[in-house]
Amino acid sequence: MIGRLNHVAIAVPDLEQGTAVYRDNLGAAVLEPMSLPEHGVTVVFVELPNTKIELLYPLGENSPIAGFLEKNPSGGIHHICYEVDDIIAARDRLVAAGSRVLGDGEPKVGAHNKPVIFLHPKDFQGTLVELEQA
Ligand code: CO
Repeated sequence: MIGRLNHVAIAVPDLEQGTAVYRDNLGAAVLEPMSLPEHGVTVVFVELPNTKIELLYPLGENSPIAGFLEKNPSGGIHHICYEVDDIIAARDRLVAAGSRVLGDGEPKVGAHNKPVIFLHPKDFQGTLVELEQA
């Protein structure tokens, strides 16, 4: 059911420093920061030949990654995102198998203007999983 790895998201305590590491030290193509107030993050996309890395930095009071950075002060992998062809079919299949969808269970428009859902880490080996309809 799942297709390509769309991105790996890494929460960073310092967006400029994290961007510089990918751009200057690792020599990756890095885009300008984008603020996504509805998601509570500022994101920098790092474009790799076969996938993307998303550097996430908290934006606003109730950022979903603020607590993560409190527990992981130097940053860390926050979630991975797999592509699916049909997000509703994917969700229904997972729910039928006992997986938990975060939030109200309905897809939201994600950072790429495509519908996404997040799945409970406890159902996926301790990893927060995002599914994006590609
Ligand atoms: Co993501």
